[in-house]
Amino acid sequence: MPELNLVPFIKPGNRQIIFYKIVLLTKTSVMRTKEIKVFVYEYESVSELNTSDQNLIAEARKIAQHAYAPYSGFNVGAALLLENGEIITGNNQENAAFTPGLCAERVALFYANAVFPQLPVKTIAVTASNKNGLLKETVKPCGSCRQAILETEVRFKRPIRIILEGKKKIQIFEGVENLLPFAFKPESLD
Ligand code: THU
Repeated sequence: MPELNLVPFIKPGNRQIIFYKIVLLTKTSVMRTKEIKVFVYEYESVSELNTSDQNLIAEARKIAQHAYAPYSGFNVGAALLLENGEIITGNNQENAAFTPGLCAERVALFYANAVFPQLPVKTIAVTASNKNGLLKETVKPCGSCRQAILETEVRFKRPIRIILEGKKKIQIFEGVENLLPFAFKPESLD
């Protein structure tokens, strides 16, 4: 289909602005649509989860209380279950200069990867509260944290279960690809 593109033009001797310019664009390629499916398992309450997942959420809630979040008042807690059963926790650490601050997920992940470089991360549970208490909706990890979770999956060659807690529901993702389709991966460097 030809496309109409209007560009401003000033008529000489007349300061009136008229708009005209027609550009004809011909399409030579065929557009394709692809559908990407992601899966999320939803639960109404923590009591529907197994004891290991319940325990991880409890640890995430505990550490969220100690978040350093004087600027946002948004307290996030993350708890990781490592392959040997060890639990590593982290919370958000803010900064008056903003950018040096770090999210709870990455505080926990980087600590785990630094201190237990041989131990795969099996599961991460994330919870958050604001001045009204536990968030109604599940807390959503930011883009950078999704990318950091992906790197840990790549490092240990296994998907990480991601548990997100909210008042209304709990969501479980079996691997970060469900939260981060079209990700930048090691092969993206080729
Ligand atoms: N934050 C996290 O720690 N994790 C998330 O998943 C989302 C956001 C922190 C960053 C900042 O300290 C505060 O929450 C508000 O964005």
